Amino acid sequence: RYRDPAAAEKMNPFAEQEAWEEHQIGKATLKFGSKNRKPTSEDYQFVFEDQIEFIKAAVMDGINVDQESPAESIEKSMAKSAFEKLQEDRKTLPIYPYRDDLLQAVNDHQVLVIVGETGSGKTTQIPQYLHEAGYTKRGKIGCTQPRRVAAMSVSARVSQEMGVKLGHEVGYSIRFEDCTSEKTLLKYMTDGMLLREFLGEPDLASYSVIMVDEAHERTLSTDILFGLVKDIARFRPDLKLLISSATLDAEKFSDYFDCAPIFKIPGRRFPVEIHYTKAPEADYLDAAVVTALQIHVTQPPGDGDILIFLTGQEEIETAEEIIKHRIKGLGTKIAELIICPIYANLPTELQAKIFEPTPEGARKVVLATNIAETSLTIDGIKYVIDPGFSKMKSYNPRTGMESLLVTPISKASANQRAGRSGRTGPGKCFRLYTAYNYMNDLEDNTVPEIQRTNLANVVLSLKSLGIHDLLNFDFMDPPPAEALLKALELLFALSALNKLGELTKVGRRMAEFPLDPMLSKMIVASDKYKCSDEIISIAAMLSVGNSIFYRPKDKQVHADNARMNFHMGNVGDHIALLKVYNSWKETNFSTQWCYENYIQVRSMKRARDIRDQLEGLLERVEIELTSNINDLEGIKKSITSGFFPHSAKLQKNGSYRTVKHAQTVHIHPSSGLAQVLPRWVVYHELVLTTKEYMRQATELKPEWLVEIAPHYYQLKDVEDASSKKMPRGSGLVS
Ligand code: CDP
Ligand code: MG
Repeated sequence: RYRDPAAAEKMNPFAEQEAWEEHQIGKATLKFGSKNRKPTSEDYQFVFEDQIEFIKAAVMDGINVDQESPAESIEKSMAKSAFEKLQEDRKTLPIYPYRDDLLQAVNDHQVLVIVGETGSGKTTQIPQYLHEAGYTKRGKIGCTQPRRVAAMSVSARVSQEMGVKLGHEVGYSIRFEDCTSEKTLLKYMTDGMLLREFLGEPDLASYSVIMVDEAHERTLSTDILFGLVKDIARFRPDLKLLISSATLDAEKFSDYFDCAPIFKIPGRRFPVEIHYTKAPEADYLDAAVVTALQIHVTQPPGDGDILIFLTGQEEIETAEEIIKHRIKGLGTKIAELIICPIYANLPTELQAKIFEPTPEGARKVVLATNIAETSLTIDGIKYVIDPGFSKMKSYNPRTGMESLLVTPISKASANQRAGRSGRTGPGKCFRLYTAYNYMNDLEDNTVPEIQRTNLANVVLSLKSLGIHDLLNFDFMDPPPAEALLKALELLFALSALNKLGELTKVGRRMAEFPLDPMLSKMIVASDKYKCSDEIISIAAMLSVGNSIFYRPKDKQVHADNARMNFHMGNVGDHIALLKVYNSWKETNFSTQWCYENYIQVRSMKRARDIRDQLEGLLERVEIELTSNINDLEGIKKSITSGFFPHSAKLQKNGSYRTVKHAQTVHIHPSSGLAQVLPRWVVYHELVLTTKEYMRQATELKPEWLVEIAPHYYQLKDVEDASSKKMPRGSGLVS
C-alpha cells in the first residue's frame, strides 16, 4: 500500500494500469512501482481506486486514455479472441440446447416459471435470447436479483458476452447507483429497485419482459413484486413475465401465477459425496480453515477449488487472516493458495477476482457468504465446506426490533451448498455438523423474509402505490398480521399515515426517499428545523453502514484517537459523522486526509454519492437545502423526529432501557458516548453481538419526545428519576 498517497497520485498512473491489466489477463505478478512482489487485496483497493480517479480526470481533460495506454491496446488485440471464446462458452451452458424451446414457450405463454440448477445459464442467457428474438424492440427486458453484487457482476458478464460497454445496452441499477442509459435494453436490477420503479411507472410500460430471477430466495421485495407483476400482467397482455428459480418451489410459483406452465432446464449434476463431522464443532470457523488446508495439502492442486460458506464480511476477513498465517507456517513446498473473498459489500473492482481462472499449479479458496449459494456461480469448485450457518434477519413484532442473527441454515440451503461442488465434475461437501443435526435440527426450508422482517418500508411503498387494503393483498405467503399492524402503527406514529391509514403529505414525501421510513422522516422533518443540509449528510453517512472508520489491528490506539477528535464536546455519534463529512468536504474531499484520520475513503465517496442523490430528492419533495450547523439542537430534534421510537433511558447499572418496550440495551463500545452515558439517548439501530447494543447514539432531552411525538409518548413515559413508574408492558420483559 502507498505510504504517501499524494506521491502515489503523482506517479505515472499508466504504469499501474498496465500492471493491473497484466494481472487481469492472467499473469501472476503485479509490477508495483519498481518492486516485484505479490499483491495483497489492499494493493488492489488503493491502486485501482487511484487509477479510476485518474482515468476519470483524464477523460474530462480530453486525454484519450485508450490510445495512450499500452495495456489497453494489448487488451484490444486480445479482445476479439476473448469475445469469440465467450461466444463458444455460451454454447456449452446447459440452457443452450433449449434455447428455441424456451423462446417458443415464452411466445406461447404470458407467464412462465423457469427452473434450472444454478449455473445453467438462466440469468445471463435468457435475457440475451429474448433480445436476440426481438423482444427489446417493444421495450426493455428487466431482470431482478435479490443481491446487489449479483446484479452488478451478472450485468458485467452479459455486457462482455454481448461485446458492449456496461451501462449502454446492458446496465444495472441498484440503490444509489444507476448504471444504465437511454440505450439500455437489458436491465439487471435489485428487486428493491424494480419495486421503486413501480412508483414512477405503475404499469411498467417501458418494459416488454420482466424476469423475476432467483425467485426461490423469497426476499421481501421479490414477494411484493410477485403480487404487483401478477396484477399488471392482467391488464398488460403484451408483457411477458418470467419467474425463474433454482430449486423446487416451482409448483408453488406456478400455483400462485394461476397455473403458469413450468419450463425445466435439465441440469448436469455430478455426484457429490457428503461428509459429516462425527461430533458437533465448537468453533466452526477454525474447523472450516483446518478442513480447507487439509484438502489443499493432501489433494493435487490442479484438481479443484474450494468454496467455504461463512456468515459475513467480518468472519470472512478473520478466516482470510488465519489461512494466510497458517499457510506461512506450512513452508514453501505447498502449492499456492489464492484466497478470494466475496460478500455483499466487497468493492466492485475486487469482485471480478473470483471469476478469474485459477492459474496452473495453484488452488483457489473462495470465502463466501450465502451469496454463492445460488446467486453467483463460480466455475471449478470441487470442494464445498459448509459450517451450516448464515446470517438471517429476525424481527420481533412485539417490540419492533430487528436483528441480524447467525442462524442454522435449512436443509434446502444445505443441499444447494453441496450442489455447488458437483457442477463440473464429481464433488465433495464437508458439512461441519453431524448427520443427526442435519436430519433432526435443520428446517426443511428457509422462512420467507416477509415473515421475519419489519414491514414499514414495504407498507409505505404499497400505500403510495394506492394499495390500501393490505390484509387482502395477494401475498404468496402472507406476513403475520401482527407485523403488518406494527408497520401501520409505526407509519402512523411517524405521521406518514393518518388515522384512517391513508397516506399523508409527510408520507408521500417520505416515500420519495429510498430509505427506511425513520430516516426518510428525519429528512422530511429537517425542513422544519432548517437544517436539511446537515441532515442529508448524516443520513448519507448512516446509509454507508459502519465502515467509515478504519481500525487496523496494529494501530488501534492511533485510530481511536483520530476517531475521538470528531466526538469532541460529546456531541454524539450522529453529529460526529456530520463532522467527519464536513471536514472531508473542507479538504476538498482529500484522500490524504482520510488516510491521516483513519477513515475509509471508499466509504466516504459512497456517502458523497448518496448525499448527492438525497439532495436531488429534496428538490423533488420541495424541501429547500438549508444549513444550520450551529443549531445542534435543531439537528438533534430532526434526528429525534425520525427516530423517537428508538429512545432509551440510562439505568443505575450503566445499561439502558428502551422507553417504549423496556428492553435492556447498551451503548456500543465504538460510540463516542460509551464513556459519557447520557441520561437519555436516541439511537439509530440495535445490533446483537454479545449484548444488545445501540449503534450510533445521540443525547436527547426527554421533553423533546413529548413535543415531537405527542401521540406516541406521554408525559409519564418520560418522567425522570424519582417516579419509579415502569413503562407499559414492562412486566413481561425478562
Ligand atoms: O442463473 P444461473 O445460475 O442459471 O446461471 P448464470 O448465472 O447465467 O451463469 C452461467 C455461467 O456464466 C456460469 O458458468 C458462470 O460461471 C458464468 N458467469 C461468469 O463467468 N461470470 C459472472 N459474473 C456470471 C456468470
Ligand atoms: Mg442466476
